[in-house]
Amino acid sequence: MRNLTINGERLWASLMELARIGATAKGGVCRLAASDLDGEARRLFIRWCEEAGCTVSVDRIGNIFARRPGRNPDLPSVMTGSHLDTQPTGGRFDGAYGVMAGLELVRTLNDLGYETEAPVEIVAWTNEEGSRFSPAMVGSGAFTGVFELDAALATRDNTAPALTLGGELERIGFAGPAPVGARTVAAYFEAHIEQGPILEAAGLPIGIVTGAQGQRWYEITVTGQEAHAGPTPMPRRRDALVGAARMIDAVNKIGHANAPYACATVGFVEVSPNSRNTIPGRVFLTVDFRHPEDAVLTAMDQELRAACAIAAATQNLEVDVKEFWYFPPTPFAPDLVGKVREAAAVQGLPHQDIISGAGHDAVYMARVAPTAMIFVPCVGGISHNEIEDAKPDDLTAGGNVLLNAVLDTADAVSGSGS
Ligand code: GLV
Ligand code: MN
Ligand code: MN
Repeated sequence: MRNLTINGERLWASLMELARIGATAKGGVCRLAASDLDGEARRLFIRWCEEAGCTVSVDRIGNIFARRPGRNPDLPSVMTGSHLDTQPTGGRFDGAYGVMAGLELVRTLNDLGYETEAPVEIVAWTNEEGSRFSPAMVGSGAFTGVFELDAALATRDNTAPALTLGGELERIGFAGPAPVGARTVAAYFEAHIEQGPILEAAGLPIGIVTGAQGQRWYEITVTGQEAHAGPTPMPRRRDALVGAARMIDAVNKIGHANAPYACATVGFVEVSPNSRNTIPGRVFLTVDFRHPEDAVLTAMDQELRAACAIAAATQNLEVDVKEFWYFPPTPFAPDLVGKVREAAAVQGLPHQDIISGAGHDAVYMARVAPTAMIFVPCVGGISHNEIEDAKPDDLTAGGNVLLNAVLDTADAVSGSGS
């Protein structure tokens, strides 16, 4: 394996320039999927890719592919990238790092005059975050056939339901002409900040990601009866918010009860009518469960349903628990993971194996192509927060690992990919 290096200062400069689009007062980024700011970031990315000599195409769900041809243009590509959308209180690196690391890789190949055997493609997937439009990983999910295209385009904005993902993509000029999924991919790599505390605590610059934990997302609707806050005696109430509060507490307890690996979060709650002197008649809430073992996720599912049924019965409420999204724990391709490990070793970078706690487009890409990820530490293990931070040296180290792993793979492609 080669031992080449990217230009870390150029990578950092690109990340900082991109982070100006949607910059928040606290130093983070708010660039929701298919918003005007997402469109602006996409156009900057495309300009940079074209300046680097890539041919850019955009598919119907807005995924952007920037292609650098190889010696043999008929070979399936080696693809790398991530996403440009962020959480509402997002940081400068989640997603942006993987896309900019791909761009820096191509710029470095140009500097070196390096011609790969197979084409190399940088990808920016649409709506990875799943915050404005749920679920997450929608662009890669449509690309890999997990989501039916029309259904994905019809997904509604969580807080402005008149708006659809498809309509918003058209509005910002990113409902592209390319058919979704019509590309052959020999291998997929994604570089990302860890978004947790493990690498920083271990003092390691590189995580070799062996796979991602599974997730189950739920939408829960609790129905009681609206009534006057003054004349309605306590025993007669059907207070949906009291039932929901007990369910939220149960979700948290389920997370703790399945320690050390379970994660359980309620991140979105809507109370209706949300008036301080009316007893709440309806509550909508979301649940996000994660675990590296599918059997534990199944057990958590049963615990959730039982807890919701009890909370509803004791408050004389109705509850609807709908599983909204699921993907099982996903192992990455051992050969490709091995290339990442070898690249870290060749670079003399201390590393350890790690399982991704977050969802990534790599999870869906792993269904159609050999896939691997590279993690670098983030400060304090904090992400999905405006204070998210990462050290330039670590980002450069991850870019170097990506470069050498991608080159080794792109020079070895022979047959047809997926
Ligand atoms: C993606 O950001 C996730 O929720 O894991
Ligand atoms: Mn991400
Ligand atoms: Mn994220």
